Amino acid sequence: MRYYPLLQDPNEAVVKQQLNSLLADNRPGVLEDLRLEADEVRRQWVGDAVHVRGIIEFSNCCIRSCRYCGLNRFNDQLRRYRMPPDEIVDTALKAAAMGFKTIVLQSGDDFFYTREMIADMVREIKKTGVAVTLAVGERPGEDYRAWREAGADRYLLKFETSDSGLYNRLHPGTSLDIRLQCLRDLRSLGYQVGSGFMIGLPGQTPEILASDLMLMRSLQLEMAGVGPFIPHPATPLGLEPAGEVALALRVLALSRLVLPWAHLPATTALSSLDKDGRRLGLTGGANVLMPNITPPEYRKLYEIYPHKAEVTDSPRELYQATLDLIHELGRDEAADPGHGLPRTTPFIREE
Ligand code: 5AD
Repeated sequence: MRYYPLLQDPNEAVVKQQLNSLLADNRPGVLEDLRLEADEVRRQWVGDAVHVRGIIEFSNCCIRSCRYCGLNRFNDQLRRYRMPPDEIVDTALKAAAMGFKTIVLQSGDDFFYTREMIADMVREIKKTGVAVTLAVGERPGEDYRAWREAGADRYLLKFETSDSGLYNRLHPGTSLDIRLQCLRDLRSLGYQVGSGFMIGLPGQTPEILASDLMLMRSLQLEMAGVGPFIPHPATPLGLEPAGEVALALRVLALSRLVLPWAHLPATTALSSLDKDGRRLGLTGGANVLMPNITPPEYRKLYEIYPHKAEVTDSPRELYQATLDLIHELGRDEAADPGHGLPRTTPFIREE
C-alpha cells in the first residue's frame, strides 16, 4: 500500500498535505490505484459483507433554503407531501418483515413532525428489532435526546462543506457552527453519527475538499456519505455543472483510506449520474447500499436533484435488485445490523 500509511499518519499536517496532493494529481492511474487500495482497506476493516439500509423519505416539506436542494422552501414547483405516521410505521414494519436490518427515516427539516411523533414512530419500529437511523435535519438537542431514549441508534446529518464561507453562501440564515454543534450533541447522546459532504459544489476548490476529508476524520464518524453535486433546475444553482463522477470516486476512495472503519454508502447521487454508480462505489471503498423503500406514489416527489435513481420500482423489487448486485460482485448481504465499529486512529491494522 502506497497512500494508506501516509493518510493514517498521526500528524494532521502530513495527512492534509497528502490529501491535497492526491486531489490535484491527475496522472493516469492514480484514481485506479486509490480505488484498489480503498477496496483492500475496506476488505480488511469491514469485510466483504454489504449492509443494506432501507430508506423511507417520509416528507419533502422543508423550512430551509439550501441553494442546491430541490426541496428548499422557495421551490414552489414541487408538490409537497407528508406521510402520516401510521403509514411510515407500516412501511417500516413491512421492510423489516422483508429482511431489512436497518430502517432510515429521512425527511426535509419539517417541524410538523413533533418530538413526540417521531419518538413514537421510533418506539414502534424498534419493536421489530431492526436498527433505526434518523435523518431529519437540525433539531433542538432535546429532540435528539428523546429519540435516542426511544431507541434510535444512528443519526445522519451531512455538514455539506467544511468551508464556512461556502457554507454561508449555500445555506442562507444558518451556519456551519450550528451544524457542527448538532453533530456534537448527537455524539454526546451516544448516537452512531454519520455525516459527509458534496463533491463538485460551485466554488469548491481542491483545498476545500481536502479540508472536508479532514473534518470527517476529526469527527471520527461511524458513517460517511460523500456524493456528487447535481444541479436542480428549480434552484439558484440550476445552471451550474454537476460534480464529476471520477472526482466523486476519488473522494470516496480517500474517505475509506481516512476512515478505514466507517460504513460508507455508494450514494444515490453517484448512481444518478452513472448507471454503474453503485457497482463503482462498492468496488472503490463503499460497503453500504441504501435502497429507497418509500411508497412509489411519494418517491418521485422527493426530488432533491433531478433524475434521481430508483424512482419507480417497488420496495421488494429494489431489495431484490440490491441483493442481485451484491451477489454479482461475489459479496454477501451482511447478517448483522451493521452498527458502528470501534474507532481507533491513527492505526494501521495488520493482516
Ligand atoms: N445534489 C447532490 N446532493 C444533494 N443533496 C441535496 N441537494 C443535492 C443536490 N442538488 C444531498 C445533500 C443532503 C442530502 C439529503 O442530499 O448532501 O444532505
